[in-house]
Amino acid sequence: MVQVDHILKLLRPESVAVIGASRHPEKIGYQVVKNLLDSGFPRDKIFPVNPRAKEILGLKAYPTILDVPEPVDLAVIVVPAPIVPRVLEEAGKKGVKAAAIITSGFKEIGNVEAERRLVEIARKYGMRILGPNIVGICDTVKGVNASFCQALPNPGEIAFITQSGALGIALVGWTKIKGIGLSDLVSIGNKADINEVDLIEFFGRDPYTRVITAYLEGIEDGRRFLQVARAVSRKKPIIILKAGKAKRTLGAIKSHTGTLAGSDAAYNAAFKQTGVVRAPTFIDLFDWATAFAKAHLPEGENVVILTNGGGAGIMATDAAEEWGVKLIDIPEDLAKKLRRHMPPFGSVFNPVDLTGMADYDGYLGAMKDLLLDKRVHAIVVLYCHTAITDPMEIANAVLEAIKETGSRKTVIASFIGGEEVLSACSKLTENGVPCYESPEKAMAALGILYRYVKMREKLDKRTMIDVKRDVQAARALIQSVLEEDRHVLTPSEAAQLAEYYGIPVLKRVLTHTPEEAVEAAKKLGYPVVLEVESPDILHKSDVGGIIINIRSDEEVRDAYARIMDSVKAKAPNARIKGIVVRRMAEEGREMIIGAHRDPIFGPLVMFGSGGILVELIRDVSFRVAPLSLEDAYDMVEETKAYKIIKGYRGEPPGDLESVIYTLLKVSQLMMDLPEIEDVDINPFFVYEKGKGGLAVDVKIVLKKD
Ligand code: ACO
Repeated sequence: MVQVDHILKLLRPESVAVIGASRHPEKIGYQVVKNLLDSGFPRDKIFPVNPRAKEILGLKAYPTILDVPEPVDLAVIVVPAPIVPRVLEEAGKKGVKAAAIITSGFKEIGNVEAERRLVEIARKYGMRILGPNIVGICDTVKGVNASFCQALPNPGEIAFITQSGALGIALVGWTKIKGIGLSDLVSIGNKADINEVDLIEFFGRDPYTRVITAYLEGIEDGRRFLQVARAVSRKKPIIILKAGKAKRTLGAIKSHTGTLAGSDAAYNAAFKQTGVVRAPTFIDLFDWATAFAKAHLPEGENVVILTNGGGAGIMATDAAEEWGVKLIDIPEDLAKKLRRHMPPFGSVFNPVDLTGMADYDGYLGAMKDLLLDKRVHAIVVLYCHTAITDPMEIANAVLEAIKETGSRKTVIASFIGGEEVLSACSKLTENGVPCYESPEKAMAALGILYRYVKMREKLDKRTMIDVKRDVQAARALIQSVLEEDRHVLTPSEAAQLAEYYGIPVLKRVLTHTPEEAVEAAKKLGYPVVLEVESPDILHKSDVGGIIINIRSDEEVRDAYARIMDSVKAKAPNARIKGIVVRRMAEEGREMIIGAHRDPIFGPLVMFGSGGILVELIRDVSFRVAPLSLEDAYDMVEETKAYKIIKGYRGEPPGDLESVIYTLLKVSQLMMDLPEIEDVDINPFFVYEKGKGGLAVDVKIVLKKD
């Protein structure tokens, strides 16, 4: 693959030219050459380029890259911004396939055009660019430090992609003191060309990387991310710290769904649907990445906690509940075996408590029994340091038990104590038992392994349902609205569009006089609702545009007049097309179903508890369209509303299917009709199981451009 080839030349080049290599140690161009040398990169394959220098750090310097007598895989560019286009052009002419541009001063300060020009040059020569505005590349697989990071990170199997260069530099030191190893640390800066998705794709195939991690502030191409991340997650875990949760400006968004969506909801949905683990902090990110890099994935859900301290066991138990990790009851035959390794005052409940007297033999014996028992799938082994035990001995006992049994079960540890436990903990981690400083962290790491396993299973189950619909009619309706230079559908138009997709809506009659309204009410049958039909009024209740529960001809005439008066007073410029009469819907369980077109990921579908307090209650969940049947069930099950549908406090079960299929229909509608920006069905009434549901109020807003 061309893509992989280019990135291979970027991260693991055979030869590197440093354009802007400097003679002065305080300059970045000097440090990059020095770092390359220090990282053991072959001297004869480093080519400093500087028209003013003969030699840099003992290496021959060339006036331009075109003067380098050998082929060059990677050009690292460290000249000031105005010179970058010229040297990039020369790199292209030289046949370089990858350029890492450290230089700042492009899009990040508004120089969009200058940055676009760089991409244009690169395209011309079939070259790929990393950056600009990056710290460079640190690869431990081949040993390439083409950056101004202080050193290479420790070697390891975690790839780290970072949108923040400074964080990247800082984490080189931090990962070292934590004993965390990286395959690569790649700073992506402004992402003019190569972005996180390219790198996720590359690391997905990289045999030296077991876990892909990233610090991101945004994703460029949401749809491609969905496709690539979903494929890669099947093979190896992706953990992302997505920063910048603050709501984007929502001023222009009128629908509930749009307001509730925000961009963070889209990221959450996209990550869930692609099996990506989202880490809240960089500490969690590396804790969890270590678990993936070092431990085996659990092959069943039964977990046992083994401890020498009751308190640590209880903390781990609480954390297990929080993470949904299942602690098994120890079967009697196993309990009998375990009792042999503890004093009479030990405990064989789960947590298994070997007591503070536990020594090498106690841990070894108990670990072996647990590892050999087929009913146990994962073990969290805890150790609290005491004056009578040696943590290294305990670590050795754990590792010996694994070795003797040849077990491939998941074992996670927490060694609690001072300096005495540090080397024992590191030894465990290095040897396949990720070890943490607290029981909660150990249990969280196991919880994350389970979460990933579950998400990965789901990736293979995507049942796509064919929605029966009349797309032609829907398109014609939208066209007619656009021709009137409108972008909000009237309630009748919105209901009609929903009906074209088989969404259950109420029968409605548009009337133009009080008498017509009375006739319609009689035909539909009392009680009825009267509501204003206007392309300019989205929230009818705000302007007194809706009256419900009307029970007689007289009340219809009165309501007609009141609505007209109120709307004319409160929205004098609104165009009134008439008054719609519809039957009063039978009360159901109140839900909201909606959709919003996210600028990065495309259509997002929403489900949650409905009513006028939706924005306050925020019991909502999102998924990116197109929804699979499994997505629809997952998003409903995530909400509290699900409990209401299932039947809360003795209520009979509601019609879950009506919700699921309406979500699928809304998803299809958003996929078919790119003109639609927002859909809001609030309330969507859910009736008893078998009796369906009803989209009582449908709002549809089109894109403005
Ligand atoms: N080809 C090759 N070398 C050249 C050329 C050329 N056409 N023209 C000049 N040079 C040489 C210079 O002579 C100089 O070498 P010398 O010191 O031996 O004379 C060298 O290239 C560097 O040029 P300077 O003009 O000295 O530039 P300086 O080193 O001050 O700055 C730099 C260049 C580092 C690229 C700067 O413009 C910059 O962008 N700095 C920010 C980098 C950064 O922070 N990146 C983001 C990281 S992410 C984060 O936030 C941490």
